[in-house]
Amino acid sequence: MNCFSLGTMKTVTRSYIKKRCNPLIKYIVEGGRPLFGEIHISGAKNAAVAIIPAALMVTGPCRIENVPQISDVTILLGVLQDLGASVRYLNPHTVEVDCTKLRNGRVPYESARQCRASYYMLGALLGRFGAADVALPGGCNFGGTRPIDQHLKGFKALGAQVDTQGGFVMAEAAGGRVKGTSIFLDKVSVGATINIMMAAALAEGMTVIENAAKEPHVVDLANFLNSMGANIMGAGTDVIKVRGVDSLRGGTYSIIPDQIEAGTYMAAVAACGGSVKLCNIIPKHMDCITAKLTEMGVEVQEVDDSLLVSRIGPLVRTNIKTMPYPGFPTDMQPQVAAALCLARGTSVITDNVWNSRFRYIDEFKRMGAQIQVDGNLAIIEGVERLTGAQLEACDLRAGAAMLIAALAAHGISEITNVQYIERGYEDVIGKLRSIGGSIRAVEVPEEEPLAVSSAG
Ligand code: EPZ
Repeated sequence: MNCFSLGTMKTVTRSYIKKRCNPLIKYIVEGGRPLFGEIHISGAKNAAVAIIPAALMVTGPCRIENVPQISDVTILLGVLQDLGASVRYLNPHTVEVDCTKLRNGRVPYESARQCRASYYMLGALLGRFGAADVALPGGCNFGGTRPIDQHLKGFKALGAQVDTQGGFVMAEAAGGRVKGTSIFLDKVSVGATINIMMAAALAEGMTVIENAAKEPHVVDLANFLNSMGANIMGAGTDVIKVRGVDSLRGGTYSIIPDQIEAGTYMAAVAACGGSVKLCNIIPKHMDCITAKLTEMGVEVQEVDDSLLVSRIGPLVRTNIKTMPYPGFPTDMQPQVAAALCLARGTSVITDNVWNSRFRYIDEFKRMGAQIQVDGNLAIIEGVERLTGAQLEACDLRAGAAMLIAALAAHGISEITNVQYIERGYEDVIGKLRSIGGSIRAVEVPEEEPLAVSSAG
């Protein structure tokens, strides 16, 4: 049950968003059976949440295809509408955005609180108008801070005056337009790479971004901007060159399939056993995940733009070290941890990207998992079985990991705060049911206490 499943030609409205993103829902999962069937992978969330803000840089209609039906997308389309863009769905996965008449306005905290990626409006507005005023994103929900110092470093290097005041970031370029420059990022940062690339696309002159992130969604954004008339070279390497242009025209672009959604279902097969075909994949994007799951005893066959993922024999322990792409993605760490709880032997997970992304471990322990956490390290002793329990999702990927653990566990599990999961997974109930998962969504009775949700 996603936050919205718009029909054709329906305009996104804020009230529609509020009505449909209902935190008073929980999932009931009956686990303990293998998974068999076929799933179509949706457009990539982390590409969509960059491409939608980038559309505001374009004067003319942008037709964006393969848009995932997830609440982060709904929220960002709502922000564009609030700024005066016209937004209309041509079909459930194709949206036409026309920002010709868009005005530069303040992006409110309410949006930043619900969707962290609203901070991409900074780079887009700064590029188009030479000024931006955007609420700082909420604290991350995997514990610890999620700094944006590299984003601000980039904007300053592009000649913008940057102030953070009253929970907002205000940036203004001298002379009304950012100027090309060279930026060496202190840390490999997906968000900073994307935000700076957007601002630089309409800068005066050439910008060189060094130590850039290489994730597939960074490349997808560059390809989107280039299809609208930008001049970006080197995306996917650690040196991106952006020759600023005066304006971007409209066009059509299709978002890449979601590497992490696909990996999540692969981890579900690893944990539950069975055989599932994942359709609409870019196999190259899956290499790091495929290699690791193969070590764990999962069989992965590439067939054109699909993967056939099977696990018949026992799960085997392994060690995971998350790294920026093309290393093992941190966004797959919780999901693989769920499978490793059932692997024979001791596994060690080291998250080198986020230093405290293990809040979900306590929930797994309530299912019988044997896990110790020390900072950015988790040591997992595999057990014979997990048992169903009441679980509370604490962020998007942790929620997905709890779904996997619940599907593999014997007995019934209840998962609350599922709005986190629906931020990034389209029709997760329908897709899991189509491969034999026993899962349903129920209303949370009013008297049940609700955890406060915050964006991540
Ligand atoms: C993006 O977040 C993703 N979100 C995250 O996925 C993902 O975990 C992360 O990249 C790493 O791949 C989106 O794409 C919307 P970073 P982002 O900037 O851009 C440090 C999901 O589950 N850093 O690459 O916020 C930071 O603390 C989400 O889909 C700075 O120090 O991540 C971290 O240690 C969760 N200063 C590292 O860099 C900065 O200014 C990587 O962060 C920025 C980042």
